[in-house]
Parts: sequence; structure tokens; C-alpha cells
Amino acid sequence: MLNKIKIAVFVSGGGTNLQALIDAQKSGIVNNGKIVLVVASNPSAYALTRAKENDIPSCVVQRKAFASQEAYEKALVEVLRENEIELIVLAGFMSILSEGFTSLYPGRILNVHPSLIPSFCGKGYYGLKVHEAALSYGVKVTGATVHYVNEIPDGGEILLQKAVEVKEGDTPEVLQRRVMEQAEWVLLPKGVEMVCEKLQKGR
Ligand code: GAR
Repeated sequence: MLNKIKIAVFVSGGGTNLQALIDAQKSGIVNNGKIVLVVASNPSAYALTRAKENDIPSCVVQRKAFASQEAYEKALVEVLRENEIELIVLAGFMSILSEGFTSLYPGRILNVHPSLIPSFCGKGYYGLKVHEAALSYGVKVTGATVHYVNEIPDGGEILLQKAVEVKEGDTPEVLQRRVMEQAEWVLLPKGVEMVCEKLQKGR
């Protein structure tokens, strides 16, 4: 077995997608990669507790601790280099990354977005807001997308998508949970394994 692809997972909140990745690693669904670092955008992210409980090293890098986006991203790159990270997974990561950062990792940053891109995505569409927008538009089908990350918010090449039904009487919270259970927690580990396999072959 070749050395596993070293993965950093970027988080901001509850970290259920991080949990799905950890579980997928334990069950062997993610096999060509290993989560070696969790990077949180704020110190109160519950995802940090999940990392700790699973003995995964973590750190907090907050945008507000730096004078500029450039300085913030420089700090992120430093921690990624120190840990020899080969793949970055944005799993509910709510901080913006500029082209200065994304261009350093072409084909090596993945994101999960809780809608069927190109619907309800881009600037201002994150977390519950995505599901609020889907409900207020009145779509009958929504879903999740796993895509590569480039300089355009939610604009990188699509890797995987899965549709999820919107039901009568859904609240944003209920819909969010269904999209997570039926799509995100399945697609993200699958996408991560696909990319790890590809990166392994290209070594
Ligand atoms: C997830 O639904 C994720 O797709 C979304 O935030 C939630 C985070 O949940 N991400 C975005 O909206 C990014 N644009 P989690 O912290 O429990 O994984």
C-alpha cells in the first residue's frame, strides 16, 4: 500500500461532514487518504471536539487575527506545508479563500455545497441560507454538490451531485438535515476517495 494522501479538513461549525469523513475512513470507504489535520476558522467550532475525540491534530486560523486576506492565507499555507498536506477538503468552511490561495492547490481543494449547483450557490449562499432560498423559490428537488474549488465561489468543476426531494411543510432545518443525510454525508467521502485515488496514481 502506497502512502496515503494527507488530507486537511477545513471547518467552521458543527462538523457533521467532518464526522462523515472520519466514519468513512474507519469503515474503509476513504482508503487512499488520511485526515491528518483539521483547520477551524473559529475556536468555538464543535468540529474541533470531533477532531479531538478522534485524535486528529487541529488548529484554529481566524481571518480576524490578520491584517489582510494575504496574511491570513499565508498563515494557512504555512500550516498546510508544515503538515505536508496534499488535499484540502472544505467541509462547512465559511471563510472566503482568494485566488492567491486556490491557485496554489489546483485540483487539490474540494468543497461540499448543499444545493444542486448552479442553483442557490455563490456569494451569500451558505449553510441554512441555501435551504431558505430553495424553499422560498419553491423548488421540488434540491440536493448537494461536491466540486473542485477555484477562484469563483462554488464555481469549480463539479465532481458529484445527488438530488434530494423537497417535501410539503419542510422548514430550512428539516430540509438541511435531509440533504445532509441523503446527499452530503454520502457524496463527500465518495468524492474524497475518488480524488485521493487519482492523486495516488499521479504520484
Ligand atoms: C453543510 O450543509 C455544508 O454543505 C454547508 O454548511 C453545512 C455545514 O455543516 N456548507 C456551505 O454552505 C458552504 N458554502 P457541518 O459543519 O455540520 O458539516
